Amino acid sequence: MTLRTLSPIFALSLFACTQEEKVTLDVSNFATEFNYANIEFPEHFYADSTSGRHLESVMETDNTPENNPITDAGANLGRYLFYDVNLSANQTISCSSCHQQETGFSDPRVLSLGFEGGETGRHSMALTNARFYQPGMYFWDQRATTLEEQVLMPFQDSVEMGMTLETLVQAVEEQEHYPFMFETVFGDSEVTAERISLALAQFVRSIVSFESKYDEGRAQVSDAWADFPNYTEEENFGKEIFMQTPNTQNGVGCAVCHEGEAMIGWAANNNGLEAVPVTDLGYGAITGVNADNATFKFPSLRNIGVRGTFMHDGRFASLREVVDHYMDTVEDHPNLGIPLSRHDFDLTESEREALVAFLETLTDDSMLTDPKYANPYVTVGAE
Ligand code: HEC
Ligand code: HEC
Repeated sequence: MTLRTLSPIFALSLFACTQEEKVTLDVSNFATEFNYANIEFPEHFYADSTSGRHLESVMETDNTPENNPITDAGANLGRYLFYDVNLSANQTISCSSCHQQETGFSDPRVLSLGFEGGETGRHSMALTNARFYQPGMYFWDQRATTLEEQVLMPFQDSVEMGMTLETLVQAVEEQEHYPFMFETVFGDSEVTAERISLALAQFVRSIVSFESKYDEGRAQVSDAWADFPNYTEEENFGKEIFMQTPNTQNGVGCAVCHEGEAMIGWAANNNGLEAVPVTDLGYGAITGVNADNATFKFPSLRNIGVRGTFMHDGRFASLREVVDHYMDTVEDHPNLGIPLSRHDFDLTESEREALVAFLETLTDDSMLTDPKYANPYVTVGAE
């Protein structure tokens, strides 16, 4: 065994502070600080889906690869990387600039701002339950085939963070708290892009939500269709509208696409935002296949109520606008998802409001405030 002579407590000058001010960054307990690996998911995450086309339980859709299981140390290292502004070309932004915990790791801005103030091409995606996208592809257009591949792309994006893999590795190496963390996670202190990717992917996969009002109600009944005892009448009515298939009364088929207990997509799809010609070909631009044109991956609806703007182009500013779109403005694109091809949805004012009320029960305050997902560089009272 190697004797560790260096104390893993380092002084770190924080950008947000005045130049003289030093904040002690104590990472000595980082490997056991939080539980990321042994999560007790609720029973309904193990139950077969009763909505949508697929019957898999949430846990069966977990896209964690065998070579990168979540560990407490690895995910926490990922958290430090996620919040580290030194990993952008001018030390101004981090992943968390565009993926903020209080909004379910999305960005309230329509387009996010990169390190030089430039705007991203699309609206930022919420990361809540991103782990449960079974196809395992990432971005609205699914251009990253795994999460491990995805997490290195923002660094190298000329608008977002402006780094190369070489400058990224260097920026990690230069900071005193990292070698100890890399050694603990990977067995030696070498910093590589691959190791950065593994740790970041672990952190992103650790961001899970299962403690909303929905989950509290779901735990008290035998299946998702039953009225929840903790819901208001309006919320239960909204849930029914959400769950019903399009061929039933009030049914608009939301749950056919936003499937199962994680209310997440199972493939890229089209929800009628634009008729041909569209401004963004989405997945079609990646595959070159016509049937993929204008189809987009869609994130889990968990924590949808705290997001400020919706869809890949951020065109809607409220859940009510989203619901009104599905009722009134669905365009007939040739790749329009089948449940939406029925064009005579006519939910009343109170039915639309009920649907919104239901969507708001998916907010999980414990996830949105949990310190294990929060900025490790901000110490209490340091402001
Ligand atoms: C400047 C803003 C910005 C920064 C910085 C940023 N992102 Fe993103 N992120 C976005 C936008 C915008 C998208 C959607 C882009 C697209 O699909 O074309 C996105 C998408 C993603 C997705 C895809 C989610 C899904 O379900 O498919 C993940 C994961 C992600 N970002 C993680 C990260 C990580 C990790 C970092 C830091 C290394 C990071 N982001 C830095 C803006 C940003
Ligand atoms: C045909 C499948 C389909 C159906 C049915 C459907 N959606 Fe969607 N939904 C999508 C797709 C695809 C997107 C992403 C579209 C985009 O950004 O291009 C989306 C996006 C959303 C978003 C925004 C997500 C985000 O992160 O910005 C919300 C909210 C939403 N849908 C709610 C609903 C509700 C409520 C219903 C029922 C009235 C519904 N959806 C029915 C496919 C569907």
